[in-house]
Amino acid sequence: MRIRVAWRGWFIGMAAGMLSAAAPSVHDLNAQYRFSCAQCHGLDGNAKGPSGVRLPGRDLADRKWLAKQKDADLIASILNGKGAMPAFNYKLTPEDAKRLLTGVIRPMARRAP
Ligand code: HEC
Repeated sequence: MRIRVAWRGWFIGMAAGMLSAAAPSVHDLNAQYRFSCAQCHGLDGNAKGPSGVRLPGRDLADRKWLAKQKDADLIASILNGKGAMPAFNYKLTPEDAKRLLTGVIRPMARRAP
C-alpha cells in the first residue's frame, strides 16, 4: 500500500516536471531540443552520445537525407511520432515543431562535418 502511494507521487511529480519544463514560454529552442530530443538524437543531432555511443534516434545531421525531406513531412513526424519515435503533439504546437526543425535541426545538419 505504502509503495503504491509512493509510486503514484513519483509519477505525478515526473509528469508535472515534464510539463512545466516543456512549456514553450521559455523561448529557447536549443533548450527545448536538449530537453525533449537530445536523448535520442544527440546534442549534435547525429544520434551519438557523449562517448560516441549510438542513440536510438535517427541521425538528423545527415545532410544528404535531410536535404531531401520536406518541412511539412518532418513536422508531421515530430507531432505525430514515427516508428519508435513518440508523438510530441501533446507538448509542442505545430509552430514549435517548425521552429525546432528550421531553427535547430537544419542548422545542426549544416554544421555537421
Ligand atoms: C525516444 C527516442 C526519440 C525521441 C525522444 C525523439 N526522437 Fe525523433 N526519432 C526517433 C526515431 C527512432 C526516429 C526514426 C523514425 C523512423 O523513421 O522510423 C526519429 C525520427 C525523427 C525525425 C525524422 C522523421 C521522418 O519523417 O523521417 C525527426 C525530424 C525527428 N525525429 C525529430 C525529433 C525531435 C524534434 C524531437 C524532440 C521534440 C525528437 N525527434 C525526439 C526517436 C526519438
